[in-house]
Amino acid sequence: MRIPVVAANWKMHGSVESIQAFLESLVDRFPSGESQVVVCPPFPLLPAAVLVASGSRVAIGAQNCHWENKGAFTGEVAPPLLRELGVAWVIVGHSERRQLFGERDETALKRAHAAQAAGLQVIFCVGETLEQRERDETLAVLERQTQGWQDLKPGLLTVAYEPVWAIGTGRTASPAQAQEAHAFLRRRLGEVMGPAAAGLRLLYGGSVKPDNAAELLGQLDVDGALVGGASLDVDSFSAIIRGAGGPG
Ligand code: PGA
Repeated sequence: MRIPVVAANWKMHGSVESIQAFLESLVDRFPSGESQVVVCPPFPLLPAAVLVASGSRVAIGAQNCHWENKGAFTGEVAPPLLRELGVAWVIVGHSERRQLFGERDETALKRAHAAQAAGLQVIFCVGETLEQRERDETLAVLERQTQGWQDLKPGLLTVAYEPVWAIGTGRTASPAQAQEAHAFLRRRLGEVMGPAAAGLRLLYGGSVKPDNAAELLGQLDVDGALVGGASLDVDSFSAIIRGAGGPG
């Protein structure tokens, strides 16, 4: 049985005050329960977030990390430093980094390796653009994006399928489209990583909202969600957690 994961990607939003208020409320609402909850605020908010979430079922994640542990990499953040701060998760290969900041499949994979070596749980993002979907290349893109994954540790890996055309657009993949991509990914990862792929959590991301979460997360191979816009509001994020099978 795969325990669902619901992760909040705050992107470049929030303040010390807003992350504290959000997490205090979230921790209050979900003191215990079945699904895992992860909140990923911007780097400078991580210490405040870890402090509020400490001892609760809410884990804190970063939105990126470098592949080296130290060195002359101005503006980058090392995985062991995240661990030192009490951060447990990290997002890698998000499409905004791929599209805006030159992230490639190879660099994303290097980041994932370094993060796992530091003991971080990786949320590895994959997904096709609108042009790729219209050219019927979705599965080929997913295959390319998961190349070389055989040495990743399955126990520290969660995969997020995020069709780029659905991110921040209000346009969601239909449950059937999500299930098709997730089933393909699970088969593909089975070939690459072996039987452990059956236990991997595959999250859907892209305009997940309270009113579509339950149906998307009800699909056989959809094991949770990576939520951007709707995660900034504690009521809507909580409703999505409930949609994932969380408590009350
Ligand atoms: P969205 O973002 O929920 O705002 O579409 C999802 C993501 O980018 O992870």
